[in-house]
Amino acid sequence: MSQQPGQMSVERATETLFPTVIQISQLSNATEFNKDLMQKVAKLRKETPNGRPDSWTSSVYTTLNTADQLHLMPEFAELASAIMGEANSFADTLNLAHNQYPLRIKDCWVNIYGPKDGQEMHLHTNSVISGSYYLKVPQGGSGIVLHSPFTDNMFEPPLAGINALNSGAAELPVEEGMFVLFRSWLKHSVRPSPVKQDRISISFNLMM
Ligand SMILES: [Fe+2]
Repeated sequence: MSQQPGQMSVERATETLFPTVIQISQLSNATEFNKDLMQKVAKLRKETPNGRPDSWTSSVYTTLNTADQLHLMPEFAELASAIMGEANSFADTLNLAHNQYPLRIKDCWVNIYGPKDGQEMHLHTNSVISGSYYLKVPQGGSGIVLHSPFTDNMFEPPLAGINALNSGAAELPVEEGMFVLFRSWLKHSVRPSPVKQDRISISFNLMM
């Protein structure tokens, strides 16, 4: 509270409501886990044609339309269990009624980004929680760009500087062994890969 001669005193508070919550988790023992997963993904790629939707503009390899039930395959059971652990923890944070209405993985697929491959902005309809596990992230590889839900329909005022309260998008750096989870309404994209080596992620959606 401040008061100067001839002025009314003011009590002012700022509250943050409806924040965009992102859960970021790093596996501490990812090296062995990833080595094993890399072999399984290599085998899957050999046996599975590219399931890239026609609407995607880059030549990324994905099993989205050819093998999107990885969580049901015995070789990916450990990953599925880790995804469930992450999703339940996120649901605790969000205070979802997941004890009464359990979360289940709806789909789970692999994405391999070669040089210059990226992903346009999108969201995952008909799901509650979405996310990715980062299996291979080369030095200098793209992160994940998260887009504010407010930018679509609101004029963006000129900014004196960018921060978490005013920015329309933010690129979150990712690392091997990292899970990133968010609500499925959150739009996201991947910058065209600036490096030669493959960037490999396994993405998933969960429903209640
Ligand atoms: Fe996505």
